Amino acid sequence: MDFTRTVLVTGGSGFIGSHLVCSLVDRHPDWRIINLDNLDYCCSPRSLESIEDRMNYTFMKGDVCNSQLVDHIFSTENIDVIFHLAAKTHVESSFESPSNFQRVNVEGTRVLLRAAHQARHQPRRFFYVSTDEVYGSSLHKVFDESSPVRPSNPYSATKAAAEFLVRSYWDKYKFPIIITRSNNIYGPRQYTEKVIPRFITLLQTNKKCTIQGTLPKSRHFLFIDDAIDAFLLLLEKGIVGEIYNMGTSCEIPILQLATELIRMVKNVPEVNDWIEFVPDRPQVDLRYPITCEKLQQLGWRAEVTWAEGIRQTVKWYQDNPDFWSDASAN
Ligand SMILES: NC(=O)c1ccc[n+]([C@@H]2O[C@H](COP(=O)([O-])OP(=O)(O)OC[C@H]3O[C@@H](n4cnc5c(N)ncnc54)[C@H](O)[C@@H]3O)[C@@H](O)[C@H]2O)c1
Repeated sequence: MDFTRTVLVTGGSGFIGSHLVCSLVDRHPDWRIINLDNLDYCCSPRSLESIEDRMNYTFMKGDVCNSQLVDHIFSTENIDVIFHLAAKTHVESSFESPSNFQRVNVEGTRVLLRAAHQARHQPRRFFYVSTDEVYGSSLHKVFDESSPVRPSNPYSATKAAAEFLVRSYWDKYKFPIIITRSNNIYGPRQYTEKVIPRFITLLQTNKKCTIQGTLPKSRHFLFIDDAIDAFLLLLEKGIVGEIYNMGTSCEIPILQLATELIRMVKNVPEVNDWIEFVPDRPQVDLRYPITCEKLQQLGWRAEVTWAEGIRQTVKWYQDNPDFWSDASAN
C-alpha cells in the first residue's frame, strides 16, 4: 500500500507516545506510523496491543542516541513528520542519575535533529514535546511562551537544553520545528511512578498515599485525550518556529488529589488513615501556572473535565490491576 505520509514517533511506547501512536494509526489508515523506542522500564508492550498488527504501524526497537540507527531510519524512510517524545521523564530519578537524563534528553534530541535535518527527504514538521517545568515554579506569575526559562531540576534542565538545540535549527536553517510545553498529562496506562497512578496503585495495594513535605504543592492536570487532540491540531495548524503552551485551568492541590483518590479507590469518608507525609526535597516547585491562549487561538480547548478524566483514569486502573505488575515482571 502507498502511504500518503510517514510519521516517526520517538518514545511511542511510553504513556503519551502510545496514546499518540494509537490515535494516529486509528485515525489515519493512509499514513504510516513508525515508533522508535528502546522499551525502557516505564513501558509495557500491552499499551500498543490494539494496533500492533495494523498495516500502517511499524515498531523499531532502538535508542534515539544511536546515530547510526537514526541516520539509517532517515536514509531509508521518507519521514514527513517527527513527534519527538523519547526521554527520561521522572523528576525524582533525574536527581539520582542526571547524566542519563542528559544523554537521552539532550544528546538524543541532537542526534535526531541532525539526522532529520540532513535527510534526503525533508521532513515537514519536527515536534519537540517539552514541559511547563522549563519555566520553573511560580506562585503568582502566569507564564506565557515568551516568559524566561528557569528550570529547577535536572529533568527540566535537560528538557530546556534540548529546546534550545531545537530552536537553533529554526534560527539557523528554518528547519520546521514546533515546541509544545504542557502541564502534567494524566490518564490510563501511565507508569506508576507518576503521582496519579502512584497514589491509585498504593491505595489498591492497601498502602498509604505518601505526600512529600507539607508545603501547598499543586499541579495542573491535562487529560491525555485533550493532549492528543492538541498535538493533532498543531500538526495541521501549528505555525513553524513557534512554541505552544498546552494546559488547563484545572489546578489540583496534591493533598486534595490524595483525598479524592482515597474516596474513589477506598470508598471511605475518613481519609487521614490513608495519607502519610514524608520528607521533601530541599527545593520543591510549588506550582507551574501557564496560559494557553496561543493554542486556544488555533481552536483548541481542554474538553474533558477533571471529574470525568479522573473517573476514567481510576476505572482503568481498577479494571487493569495487573497491567504494571505484569510489565515489570517482563
Ligand atoms: N507526562 C507528562 O505529564 C508530560 C508533560 C509534559 C511533557 N512531557 C514529555 O512528553 C514526553 C513523553 O512523556 P511520557 O509521560 O509519555 O513519558 P514516559 O516515561 O511514559 O515515556 C518515555 C518513552 O521514551 C522511551 N525512551 C526513553 N529513553 C529512550 C531512548 N534512549 N531511546 C528511545 N526511546 C527512549 C521510553 O521507553 C518510553 O517509551 C517526554 O518527552 C516528556 O518530557 C510529559
